[in-house]
Amino acid sequence: MLPDLSVTPISHSRLADVDFDNLGFGNVFSDHMFSLKYEHGRWQRPEVLPYGPVAVDPANATLHYGQAVFEGLKAFMGDDGTVRIFRPDMNYKRLRDSCERLCIPAPDEAHFYGAMESLIQLDHGWIPRKRGQALYIRPLIFSDESHLEVRPSQAFRFLVMTAPVRTYFDEDTAAIDLKVEEEFTRSAPGGMGAAKTSGNYAASLFPGEEGRKQGFAQVLWLDGLEHRYVEEVGAMNIFFRIDGKVLTPSLVGTILPGVTRDSVIRLMEDAGDPVEERRIEIDEVMTAIREGRMQECFGAGTAVTIAPVGGISYHGEHLTINNKEAGEVTRRLFDEVTDIQLGEVTDRHAWNRLVSVGAGAGSKRAAL
Ligand code: COI
Repeated sequence: MLPDLSVTPISHSRLADVDFDNLGFGNVFSDHMFSLKYEHGRWQRPEVLPYGPVAVDPANATLHYGQAVFEGLKAFMGDDGTVRIFRPDMNYKRLRDSCERLCIPAPDEAHFYGAMESLIQLDHGWIPRKRGQALYIRPLIFSDESHLEVRPSQAFRFLVMTAPVRTYFDEDTAAIDLKVEEEFTRSAPGGMGAAKTSGNYAASLFPGEEGRKQGFAQVLWLDGLEHRYVEEVGAMNIFFRIDGKVLTPSLVGTILPGVTRDSVIRLMEDAGDPVEERRIEIDEVMTAIREGRMQECFGAGTAVTIAPVGGISYHGEHLTINNKEAGEVTRRLFDEVTDIQLGEVTDRHAWNRLVSVGAGAGSKRAAL
């Protein structure tokens, strides 16, 4: 716990109302949230409060100019009653980088970890227990200053909320279809594509909705200069297995450096089958599918974990991959990542940060 943390506990828990057999993604939030204000040039006293609305002035600069960054992590509870947060050091590093790009002072590491740990200690009963489910942790930093000048703000708020979730795409859903976005772009060289900032997601909404109306779960973004190279999917990074070799677009500054992306690369390296990171032309992808040389395709991200892709549409041509089924590497990686997250195998890279939540925690949710 943070030494100067002030805790205002809830008077009545909402936990008993949660249907853990039918979780969605981010539509139910745990009892408490963490809050830390930045004012007068420094971060103030950290607080844990009952989860709920925060007052925002109509002239709040985030609402107008989007000075906000966020992160996404997951915590799991294994059968041993230990809570594990998956690779939070990577998220902290990315948060710092995003803060720098958006002119936001980064909170220090102690506040970042302390926020998550204090919430987990209070709300560990909210951690789901089914494989594929998790407690999603959403840190958010936004300008908390009222002004209409276009300039970096001087006041910010760092909030952390947690939510019991299933994987982003319902696990009962088959492999998803992607539409290659041929008109719009997510990010361009020199833009904010590598930062986890709200504006990138706002830019994806209109093309995403157009795709959804046509039956596509997500769009596959191409580069902003030539519309020729594959970049990412927005909710996840993309991987292809072509001629037995796993490929992913290299991080060229326009793509979000995903934590699960990095984990896939490390696990494939461990298996003696390193991932090739390079520029990948969309024509190469479509040709490989057409010629039957694409064995599988999958996305990797915190929310989705590892999600099979069953088809890609480009220039009016829809091609199916692996009969719309998850391929062997996709399934193996999902299991490897999930086993590490749940503490079911040795955490050989020391990826998990353990949080102790007291005796009997492992059985608490199961008993509800
Ligand atoms: C995550 O994977 O944590 C993300 O932030 C993607 C989300 C916008 C669905």
